[in-house]
Amino acid sequence: MKNKKILINSKDSNYNIYVGSNLIAQINKILKKDKINAKNFLIIYDSKVPFKIINILRKKIKENIIFHKFYSSEKNKNQKSVNKILNIMLKNNFNRNDCLIAVGGGIIGDVSAFAASIFKRGLKFINIPTTLLAQVDSSIGGKTGINSDYGKNLIGSFYQPDLVIADIKFLKYLPKRELICGYAEIFKHSIISDKKFFYFLLNNFEKIINLKKPYIDQAIYKSCFIKKKIVEKDVKEKNLRKTLNLGHTFAHSYEATYKYSKGLNHGEAVLLGINSASEFSFKKNLLNYKEYKLIINHISKINNSLKINNYFNKKDTNKLLGYIKNDKKNISKKINLILINKIGQVSYNNFFELKEISKFIRNQFL
Ligand SMILES: NC(=O)c1ccc[n+]([C@@H]2O[C@H](COP(=O)([O-])OP(=O)(O)OC[C@H]3O[C@@H](n4cnc5c(N)ncnc54)[C@H](O)[C@@H]3O)[C@@H](O)[C@H]2O)c1
Repeated sequence: MKNKKILINSKDSNYNIYVGSNLIAQINKILKKDKINAKNFLIIYDSKVPFKIINILRKKIKENIIFHKFYSSEKNKNQKSVNKILNIMLKNNFNRNDCLIAVGGGIIGDVSAFAASIFKRGLKFINIPTTLLAQVDSSIGGKTGINSDYGKNLIGSFYQPDLVIADIKFLKYLPKRELICGYAEIFKHSIISDKKFFYFLLNNFEKIINLKKPYIDQAIYKSCFIKKKIVEKDVKEKNLRKTLNLGHTFAHSYEATYKYSKGLNHGEAVLLGINSASEFSFKKNLLNYKEYKLIINHISKINNSLKINNYFNKKDTNKLLGYIKNDKKNISKKINLILINKIGQVSYNNFFELKEISKFIRNQFL
C-alpha cells in the first residue's frame, strides 16, 4: 500500500493522519506541508523505542530540539510527569507556536497531549504513535488524560493534535502481546461499523499480526478511517462516539480487578469485554447465533486462553460489579451497555438494572 493521508475535519479543528512506512525519514517535508513552523521542539519519547529511530528525527528536524525520555507505565501517567514536561518547556521559553512531539504508545500520547493542552493554554502538538493501539486508536480523536489516586484517566481534556504520523516501522520492535492489544481495537472498530472489514480481519489475522504488507497497512488505515468518521460527528462523546466503548464497560472492570497490572493488559481486557458484550447481545436476542459465534471464535483464535474462567471466578462477581457501577456512561443507578445488533452495527444507551448485569456476570462462570 502506498503511504496514505486521512484528514480529520471536525467542528473546531482539522489535522492530517499519515499512515505508511518510513514516514519518519520524511518528517521535515511533512512538517513543511502541514505548516508546522515551530522554532523549538520538545520530543517526549518512549524508553523502549530504539534510539536509532529517535535519532532520525534529530537528523531531519533542523530547528532546536530537546529530547525527554519517558518510561511508560500507568503509574507514570500522572501529574508529576505532566509537570516535568511543562517545566522543560517553561525553562526553555517555549511559546504557543513551538511544538511538543509525543513518540510513544497511548500513555506518552495521552500525557503529552494533556501537557500540550494546558501549556500557555495550548501549544502545537504532534503525535507519532509507536504502538499498534496508539496508531489505530488513542492518537485519533483528541482525548487526553492522566490517572489519579481515584482512578484511570480521570483528569484530562479534549485537545486535538496538529498532526499524527503513524509509521509502521515502529511496530517491528513491539512485542506480540502489545500487537494483539492494538488488534483488539481494530477488531472492535470492524464490529462497530464495517462487516466487510470484519471478514477481511477474519481472513487475514495472521498476516496482520505478523506485520505482512499490505495487510497491516490496510488494517491500520481502515481502522483510523472508521474512528475518523465517528469522532468527526461527535467530538465530545455526547452520542455516537459512545459506540467506541464497545466491550469497554466490562473490560474496565476486568482490568481494574487486576489493578491494571500486566496480568491482564488493556487489549486482552477489551477482547474479554467484547466477548461479554457479544454474549449479552446474543442473550437479549439482538445478535444472531451465527454472528455471535463468528465473533467469539475469532477471539479464541487471537488468543485461545482468553476465556473469562481463566481470569476470574464467581467470587470476583461483587468486585467486578463495583467497577461496572462506577462506569462514566451510567445514568442514575442504571448500567449503560453498548450492544451489537449485527456485525457492523451497534447501539448505545441501553440501560439495565444492576441486578440483571449481576446475574449475567455470575452466569458467565457456569
Ligand atoms: N486517548 C485515547 O483516546 C485513548 C484510547 C485508548 C487507550 N488510551 C490509553 O492508551 C494507553 C495504552 O496505550 P498503549 O497500549 O500504547 O500502551 P503504552 O504506551 O504503555 O505502550 C505499551 C508498551 O509498549 C512499549 N512500546 C511503545 N512503543 C514501542 C515500540 N515501537 N517498540 C517496543 N516497545 C514499545 C511501551 O514502553 C510500553 O511498555 C492507556 O493508558 C489508555 O488509557 C487512550
